[in-house]
Amino acid sequence: MGASGFLGSRLLALAPPDVALAGTGGRRPVRPGNWRELHLDLATPTAARAVIEQERPSTVFFCAYDRTNPAVTVDAAVAAARAAVTQAARFVLFSTDLVFDGRDGPYAEDAPAAPVLAYGAMKLEAEALVAAEHAGALIIRTSLLVGESGVMLRPAFECDALVRGQSVSLYRDEWRSPTHVDDVARAAWELSLLDVAGVYHVAGPRLSRLELGQVLCGLFRFSPALIREADRPASRPRDTSLDARRAAALLGWAPRPLASLVPQPARV
Ligand SMILES: NC(=O)c1ccc[n+]([C@@H]2O[C@H](COP(=O)([O-])OP(=O)(O)OC[C@H]3O[C@@H](n4cnc5c(N)ncnc54)[C@H](OP(=O)(O)O)[C@@H]3O)[C@@H](O)[C@H]2O)c1
Repeated sequence: MGASGFLGSRLLALAPPDVALAGTGGRRPVRPGNWRELHLDLATPTAARAVIEQERPSTVFFCAYDRTNPAVTVDAAVAAARAAVTQAARFVLFSTDLVFDGRDGPYAEDAPAAPVLAYGAMKLEAEALVAAEHAGALIIRTSLLVGESGVMLRPAFECDALVRGQSVSLYRDEWRSPTHVDDVARAAWELSLLDVAGVYHVAGPRLSRLELGQVLCGLFRFSPALIREADRPASRPRDTSLDARRAAALLGWAPRPLASLVPQPARV
């Protein structure tokens, strides 16, 4: 669910070949492909359950969220998890590094969460209620997702300005674990096929927002001259980077450092 979004569209694209797929969108279309496209408004209380009862999936990936609407981010996730239980389906919820307060990163899965932003608080509530509803639920926390899908370049805060040739102020003192979206999609499929439940961090190496911007210039051919160094506002968490060794040990691989993905210039 949330297949018209950034991560959801890559989950469809990177699915194992033998899996029958359906992807839900809200207002946007789902990218065309070898899957069925469904549309619903997850803010409607019965929508998540109705589509799961109709489709009878073996696994539900819940990527949908709305930063301003707990009816989607929390209530629909919980309703979907409950419906997955009745269908004996796997349930995978995506969550965020922003469940942490940023005073003591990098954070392992069992570190106490204490969100300072409303979005992080909503996601933490969704995590707890989904886990209570579905004992086998897998909760994948990740950090800023990087990559391209259709016409989207992400993360939006950096890319939307840089792609237009506009300058952007990036924080030298805010640390995250930016991760290529395809690595999260691949890890989610692989973890969903293992008999594991609970919280897993799937995230790349720690970078400041400033360092991330510099890597994005290499990845997407933005001009580094557009980047201005800045200090983060005091209201933002300082270091919500994730310790992702638990998932990496299980999978046998870790998300790639973004710098390793920067294309090398052709030799002429
Ligand atoms: N992107 C990041 O940097 C990042 C970082 C950490 C964690 N995450 C987590 O990863 C997950 C996916 O993020 P994303 O970047 O892929 O998000 P996204 O691109 O904004 O996609 C959100 C999805 O939710 C759907 N949605 C929102 N409101 C809806 C509604 N009322 N009814 C039906 N569908 C609705 C959207 O559908 P329409 O657009 O079609 O309406 C879209 O498919 C989220 O759980 C997020 O918390 C993301």
